[in-house]
Amino acid sequence: MKAGAGRRRSPGVPRADSRRRAASGASAGPRSRGARRGGPDGRRVRVALRAATADDCRMIWEWRNEETTRGASFDSSEIAYETHEAWFRASLARRDRKIFVVVAEAEPCGVVRLDRSGRRAEVSIFLARARHGVGIGPRALRAIARVGIREHLDALTARTKSGNYPSRAAFRSAGFTEAVEEGGVVTMVKPLRLGRN
Ligand SMILES: CC(C)(COP(=O)(O)OP(=O)(O)OC[C@H]1O[C@@H](n2cnc3c(N)ncnc32)[C@H](O)[C@@H]1OP(=O)(O)O)[C@@H](O)C(=O)NCCC(=O)NCCS
Repeated sequence: MKAGAGRRRSPGVPRADSRRRAASGASAGPRSRGARRGGPDGRRVRVALRAATADDCRMIWEWRNEETTRGASFDSSEIAYETHEAWFRASLARRDRKIFVVVAEAEPCGVVRLDRSGRRAEVSIFLARARHGVGIGPRALRAIARVGIREHLDALTARTKSGNYPSRAAFRSAGFTEAVEEGGVVTMVKPLRLGRN
């Protein structure tokens, strides 16, 4: 995803009609607040996190190589399965890293990761492209903040490309504030415990 001015639609981002379909899993109808909330007939889509396991390796690799996610990544190259598998296996064994699968209405649809450093952790997130734009991201980010609180973290941080407006909006709506913008990268912060940041 390239940097650009204003809230211009990026090439990889689904248009409103496909976003409606992603929300309902059905054919398009008039766009409503309900559709934006994400569930069929305007029902709020339920989002949960579960710890990733070795069985999730290929599914996560497929999402990671989707064009939109590659465009949003600091390393936008396509990743070979063997490279991903070695990274994933090592990641699951690390104590400073936690990987969760985002589950919306019982369907796995993305990944959120915490990389801990002292009492802070950096968050990264990507969802399957078909599930973008219906509010799953902000809910997953609020859920990871609850994990951070349970882990006694003081704050979460995240970095995103300046031109990644959907990401910036998703983090803002999950309570992150934009702290610094430098070299085409925005750093965002969400304090988790008052008075400890
Ligand atoms: C970033 C991401 C996690 C956001 O999750 P999501 O479930 O799609 O988030 P939302 O549905 O709340 O959409 C985000 C916001 O962007 C808006 N948006 C969507 N497409 C947009 C576009 N092309 N231009 C501007 N805003 C756009 C949405 O309307 C929404 O804003 P709103 O809350 O004001 O309505 C998801 O889109 C994704 O996985 N993207 C690819 C990977 C990525 O960018 N990761 C983040 C880098 S750390």
